[in-house]
Amino acid sequence: MKITVIGTGYVGLVTSAVFAHLGHQVIGLDIDKSKINQLKKGKITIYEPSLEDLVSKHLSTKRLKFTTDYQQAVKNAELIFICVGTPAKKDGSYDPKFVFASAESVAKNLDHYAVIVIKSTVPPSTTKEVKAIMQKHTQAQFDVASVPEFLREGSAVNDALHPSRIILGVEAKKAETLLKKAHHKLKAPILVTTAQSAQLTKYASNAMLATRISFINAMAVLTDKVGADIQDVAEALGLDPRIGQSFLQAGLGYGGSCFPKDTWALIAFAQKLGYNFDFLKQVDQVNTDQIDYFISKIKSAYPDSLKGKILTILGLSFKPNTDDMREARSIPLIRKLQKLGAIVYAYDPVAVKNAQKSLKKVKFFTDPYLALINSDGLIIVTEWQEFKDLNLKRIRRSMRTPNIFDGRNIYDPRTVKKLGFKYFGIGRQ
Ligand SMILES: NC(=O)c1ccc[n+]([C@@H]2O[C@H](COP(=O)([O-])OP(=O)(O)OC[C@H]3O[C@@H](n4cnc5c(N)ncnc54)[C@H](O)[C@@H]3O)[C@@H](O)[C@H]2O)c1
Repeated sequence: MKITVIGTGYVGLVTSAVFAHLGHQVIGLDIDKSKINQLKKGKITIYEPSLEDLVSKHLSTKRLKFTTDYQQAVKNAELIFICVGTPAKKDGSYDPKFVFASAESVAKNLDHYAVIVIKSTVPPSTTKEVKAIMQKHTQAQFDVASVPEFLREGSAVNDALHPSRIILGVEAKKAETLLKKAHHKLKAPILVTTAQSAQLTKYASNAMLATRISFINAMAVLTDKVGADIQDVAEALGLDPRIGQSFLQAGLGYGGSCFPKDTWALIAFAQKLGYNFDFLKQVDQVNTDQIDYFISKIKSAYPDSLKGKILTILGLSFKPNTDDMREARSIPLIRKLQKLGAIVYAYDPVAVKNAQKSLKKVKFFTDPYLALINSDGLIIVTEWQEFKDLNLKRIRRSMRTPNIFDGRNIYDPRTVKKLGFKYFGIGRQ
């Protein structure tokens, strides 16, 4: 099939490469010229495991092309996937400007029937709005559908090749048939719903996962108070098949390009409908408070003051295996520590370049061991495997004050204490 993907960010680029891999003829379009120039050479501008190989492979098979030209991208396309960003506005509601702008550009170049598929995460009112924009700018026939994306950064290619489910939010049978044809090689249950149900499912999914994270973090405050271990509680809890293990990892809370903004967007959307989603506001509040809770632990280790203390942050991206710094927990944590007078050193395997855009006065290192020389505290913010494998004996020798603040509970408290560290975890001592 002839497929066009608008937006070549995390979702759009993976979608383009995976559709090419499934045998379709794909054009990926972006308004970012430098990104497209790089992509034409097979270079990707984000860190996402195995994505560059897949892109290069399908540039060679000629099933994947990139352009900034809407006319070229829309010409002959049967399915046009909109994968542009949907950032949060100041009040938390979703900002539709990129979705609307891309719909308008598609419409202005559309002279044949196509299905406009919204893959970006948008509230259910969007289908109608996109339809109206399209009608204003084209005489051609079209349908608007919604196929939300559930991939996770860090394992995006694998997730897109092996999705847990495919949700086709459609109104027209013709659109359903074309979308089924496009996805038929993927071995995943296909659910056909209305666009509204599909879009709400995406928000519900992220809100549920955010809820589980905030729930276990709230429980961790209690295990701290009674001297219990949140890891034990979470493991035992998750063995109940009605509950399951995933997303019950206590830590610094959630960040990234989806959970925070989608939670805020759902709260704002509900408010617009006259429903006060207090429950979800609390989930968000617990997540915000988690940084202060962690900082109170750090402060307790330096009773005089944090002034002049060197604190070394390991991990800057919002989660391992990505360089994405959007809503990364490292940002508010570092800014607050700096306000308290701490000198911040930092290391991340891939996110330093992106981190430098939002973090000032941080000394960045290219080696975790160097970042810890003379340090007064090792702070785990992102649970990269590399940090689990560090030689803590060597680190113990080079630090000025052997304190570990384990924001992701990656170390065993007993082991690190035996090595001479003071250990501060989340919900465990
Ligand atoms: N990143 C994730 O893990 C993830 C997972 C599931 C769903 N989503 C959703 O998918 C959508 C895209 O997210 P992302 O992380 O890929 O965003 P992104 O910011 O990485 O990429 C968006 C791309 O769209 C391009 N763009 C903006 N306006 C455009 C226009 N008018 N025409 C063409 N291109 C345009 C930008 O230049 C950018 O390259 C969002 O709605 C997001 O919530 C993201």
